[in-house]
Amino acid sequence: MESILSPVKEKQGFKDFMPILGTDYVELYVSNSKQAAHYYKTAFGFKSLAYSGLETGNKDVESYAIRQDKITLVLSSPLHSGSDIGRHIDRHGDGVKVTALWVDDATRSYEEAMKRGARSFMEPTRHEDDLGWVIKSGICTYGEVVHLFIERKNYNGPFLPGYRKWESNYQPTETGLRYVDHMVGNVEMGRMNHWVKFYEEVMGFKNILSFDDNDISTEFTALMSKVMSNGDGKIKFPINEPAAGLKKSQVDEYLEFYEGEGVQHVAMATNDIIHTVSELRSRGVEFLEVPDTYYDALKDRVGDIDERIDTLRDLNILVDRDEEGYLLQIFTKTVNPRPTMFFEIIQRKGATSFGKGNFKALFEAIEREQELRGTL
Ligand code: FE2
Repeated sequence: MESILSPVKEKQGFKDFMPILGTDYVELYVSNSKQAAHYYKTAFGFKSLAYSGLETGNKDVESYAIRQDKITLVLSSPLHSGSDIGRHIDRHGDGVKVTALWVDDATRSYEEAMKRGARSFMEPTRHEDDLGWVIKSGICTYGEVVHLFIERKNYNGPFLPGYRKWESNYQPTETGLRYVDHMVGNVEMGRMNHWVKFYEEVMGFKNILSFDDNDISTEFTALMSKVMSNGDGKIKFPINEPAAGLKKSQVDEYLEFYEGEGVQHVAMATNDIIHTVSELRSRGVEFLEVPDTYYDALKDRVGDIDERIDTLRDLNILVDRDEEGYLLQIFTKTVNPRPTMFFEIIQRKGATSFGKGNFKALFEAIEREQELRGTL
C-alpha cells in the first residue's frame, strides 16, 4: 500500500461536531512530581506556572504545572498509598495520563462523544474559585489514557481552579519550544484500526496519512502507523501498532515495559531547531544518533535547504521533504527508567508530514539502543 497524503478538506456545509481550540495541557503521572518539574524546567526550558497540593488544600495529589509558550505540562504524584495515580505508576512507570483538549463547550464535546460511543471518564463538572470557573469533562481512549475537554472561557486564574500561581526564583531560559505538534500512541497488535475508527466516529477525526510495514521496517523490525487529525488539523494523533518482524520492534518493547497501550512520544514544535537542540544538548538532554552516512546522502534526498548540513550533522538533526516543503526533526532517548516514552523536536518548513524518509535511519538507531538494553 502506498502512503497517502490527503489533507483534511471540509466539505461545504459540513459542520465539525468536535471543534477543538488546541492542546490545553498534557498531564503525566510520575513518581516524584517535584523533581520531574525541576527536570523539565532545567532540561527543556519550561517555567513554573501553577501548583496544587497540601498547601492548596489538596490532600491526595501534588501537581506542578509548567509552561513554555503554548505547551503546558502537568506533573502529578500521589501523597499517600493506595491511590489511582500510585497504581498507574506501579503498572506503567511514569507516563502520560491526560491529553487535555481546549474546547469552547466541554459539555457539548462530551455529549457529542458519548452519543457516538465514547466511554466516559468524567461527566461535565464545574470547578470554580475566586477567579472564575472551568468546565471539565473526559472520555477514555487507548490504554489508560484519557482526553479531558477543558472549557476555560470564564476563568482568569493562572491555570485551573484548585491551583495557585507557582512563584519560583528558578526560571531557566526557554529553549524555543512552542506548541504540541502531535502526540503518538502505541497500541497492541491488531488494534490500530479499532482506534482509528474510534477517532473517526467518536471525535470526527480523519485518517490523513497511513504507513504500513513496507514503509516502516528495517531488516529486523516493523510497525504500522495511521495519523488521525481533527477537523482543522490542529490536533494530530498518530497511532502505531507493532508488525511482525524478525526481532522485537520498538512498539513491542514499549508495550512490554509500559505494560499496556499508552503515549509513545510527544512532538514539540520549534521555529529554530538548531537553537533549540543546541540548548537541550547543553542542558543534558540525550538524543538518538544516526550514522554519519545519513548526512552524506542528505543533499541528494532532500535537495536545497536553508541549514548547513555540517551543523545538522553535529547536532544529529534529521531532515525530510514532502510535496509541500521540508521538516527537521530529532528524537530524544527515552526519558524514563523503563524504555517507554520520549520526545520529538520538530521544525516544519512547509512540510505537513511526519518524516517518512527518516524512518529507516531512525528505527535502526532505536534498534541499536534496544540491542544495548538486550530487548531486541
Ligand atoms: Fe512524531
